[in-house]
Amino acid sequence: MKAIQPIRWDPDAKQLILLDQSLLPAEEVYRGYSESGEVAEAIRSLVVRGAPAIGCTAAFGVVLAAYRYTGSEAAGLGAVVAEAMDDLAGTRPTAVNLFWALDRMGRTLAGSAGQSCGAIRSELEREALAIYRDDLAACREMGDLGAGLVPESAKILTHCNAGALATAGYGTALGVVRSAFSRGKVSMVWVDETRPVLQGARLTAWEMVREGIPATLITDSMAGALMAAGDVDLVVVGADRIAANGDVANKIGTYSIAVLAHHHGIPFVVAAPISTVDLSLVSGGSIPIEERERDEVIGFRSEVWAPEQVRVYNPAFDVTPAELVTAIVTERGIVRPPFGPALSEILRTG
Ligand code: MRU
Repeated sequence: MKAIQPIRWDPDAKQLILLDQSLLPAEEVYRGYSESGEVAEAIRSLVVRGAPAIGCTAAFGVVLAAYRYTGSEAAGLGAVVAEAMDDLAGTRPTAVNLFWALDRMGRTLAGSAGQSCGAIRSELEREALAIYRDDLAACREMGDLGAGLVPESAKILTHCNAGALATAGYGTALGVVRSAFSRGKVSMVWVDETRPVLQGARLTAWEMVREGIPATLITDSMAGALMAAGDVDLVVVGADRIAANGDVANKIGTYSIAVLAHHHGIPFVVAAPISTVDLSLVSGGSIPIEERERDEVIGFRSEVWAPEQVRVYNPAFDVTPAELVTAIVTERGIVRPPFGPALSEILRTG
């Protein structure tokens, strides 16, 4: 089975290739990008989505900006790259991986001061590829570590898509599922459809079906009844940003699942790379929550089922307080409460 590759870099054509996730599962379309502005639009419009994938994509967006500058003045190149970084930073506010990746690219640019434009471009390309490869390796590691938390014959519930599509490949939460499945530990994955954009129904279900992992699609409101019936052993989700105290921002609806899991005594596990941890924020209350267009709630694609005049509220993420989280699986190890000291220790040892 060919691995899912949502993001690819063509080093000869200096082109970024993205699997258009907004069309899945009906169509598998790969689009080529040569302009950083188009990459920013692809992030905004969810052609590519998921915290680590957004970070990797933005890094390649920066590389594209550097290659589009055809002059030979390092200062001119720096200005074009800085403008592209600003544009990319303005796309989606919640996933900190975006800012983490742009910061790495910015430091690479600063570190290449005094070099020729050609050398600076090569350095930026090398760094974007390193960000991509690091994410892939982190997902594999989280999968291995997280699989140890999965009981035999587990029925696992997941929300949104924290899979290969949301990362450089393999996935965070779905990386744990994949690794546990390969150890013969998974009897069922309950896939929340994840209203309003349906990342569960369209993307997670697609990944599971493609790989023959036993999965059942449910609407978000069915999770409580399943838990009450004893049909969920473990919840595993991804994250868009984790504050210093362990509060977790993830797709809207995650908080409801965490409350339900807590009520039913079911472990609630978050799988996220270190690039998702934001120690600059003391708690989840300061995490910026993206609000998206009304169209996502009043209907889907061209179909509209709500009155056009109705007021709509559409936050894309919510915050799950640390006290509802059983463990955070990172590539450097599994972090348990109290998360504050454990997270700062794991980041310090990196
Ligand atoms: O709006 P999206 O689809 O970008 O939201 C994605 C999520 O909330 C994921 O759960 C999160 O980014 C983790 S992906 C490994």
